[in-house]
Amino acid sequence: MKKALVCGAGGFIGGHLVNRLKSEGYWVRGVDIKYNEYGNTNADEFILGDLRDPAIAAEVVTSDLNEIYQLAADMGGAGFVFTGDNDASIMHNSVLCNLNILEEAKHKGVKRIFYSSSACMYPEYNQLDPENPKCSEDSAYPAAPDSEYGWEKLFSERLYLTYQRNHGIEARIARFHNIFGPQGTWEGGREKAPAAVCRKVAMAEDGGSIEIWGDGKQTRSFLIVDECVEGIRRLMESDFSGPVNIGSEEMISLNDFAKMVIELSGKSIAINNIKGPTGVRGRNSDNRLIQEKLGWAPSTPLRVGVEKTYNWICEQIQKKAEVEVLEEV
Ligand code: NAD
Ligand code: GDD
Repeated sequence: MKKALVCGAGGFIGGHLVNRLKSEGYWVRGVDIKYNEYGNTNADEFILGDLRDPAIAAEVVTSDLNEIYQLAADMGGAGFVFTGDNDASIMHNSVLCNLNILEEAKHKGVKRIFYSSSACMYPEYNQLDPENPKCSEDSAYPAAPDSEYGWEKLFSERLYLTYQRNHGIEARIARFHNIFGPQGTWEGGREKAPAAVCRKVAMAEDGGSIEIWGDGKQTRSFLIVDECVEGIRRLMESDFSGPVNIGSEEMISLNDFAKMVIELSGKSIAINNIKGPTGVRGRNSDNRLIQEKLGWAPSTPLRVGVEKTYNWICEQIQKKAEVEVLEEV
């Protein structure tokens, strides 16, 4: 039986990945500083611990592991990563996790490690035109990410590649493009646009309005988490190190995305564009490399993922309202 460690197993993608590995027959150890708030983790062993602490990394990285999946990071949507207020903790916390895990993997002889980088590492100068952003893997340099979160991801990619060159680590590096879906953060300030827009639409009155940050013409592509996990597993099984994009090529403007969710809701809702943290003007995954190297690329239509996510967020709002009523009694 293969043994895997999932770092960040209490999080969104980590929770889904644990389930996927379990369904493939793996024995899985999860580690996170928090439990998964939606109960979405079936790890055989779950260690509540802080990977910034080298002692915790030493405890969870054991020599019997076949694979490590490193998804632990200080992470959030535009309201968390693009305000500038969290830059020091993002860089400090995420780098420490990566340093500690790699050192332990080197000591314990665990070779194969997946690292979750981000499309945020691509240079801003290629993402100024919302209709024609460039995010091919070979466009990473000269580096000019628009956020410290992106710089940290770029640095850590390089860190994994140095351990590959100097210490025999087999790194597998993916650059995720805005992953969304059920069990993802949907409130509290770290939520990304797909969940935020679903929540706003679900909570709006028929005939009311929702707020969308920016002019709504900025573009993104959003990938449902099941496809992300499929991509992680395929990359991990391959002999290709990456870095490679894991994202959707179905680019959409934020206002058009909001219109899609509004249509799904069956309500009549107006869009009010307001000032807010917006990040790059345009971003889309470029899937030529993943197609070439893995013979696969994500294909689920955006609408399919949005429908699943919208329904799940409606359920969460309903559950929360029921708990609030009970607490008042
Ligand atoms: P998430 O926030 O749900 O998961 C990250 C998990 O890491 C959290 O549960 C958090 O508690 C944990 N963590 C943070 N610091 C830790 C520490 N010191 N010790 C132990 N655990 C710690 O985010 P996610 O969306 O599941 O993202 C997973 C990974 O993918 C992250 O590295 C993120 O940067 C990367 N990524 C995600 C997206 C996306 O759209 N979701 C896009 C690009 C990259
Ligand atoms: N979060 C959020 N909430 N974004 C909104 C909202 C809202 O209510 N309204 C409009 N937006 C806009 C943002 O201003 C931004 O222009 C766009 O929607 C996308 O925002 P996010 O989904 O929050 O983030 P992102 O796509 O800019 O970056 C995310 O994806 C990266 C990978 O592609 C972040 O999660 C990064 O951390 C991640 O690495």
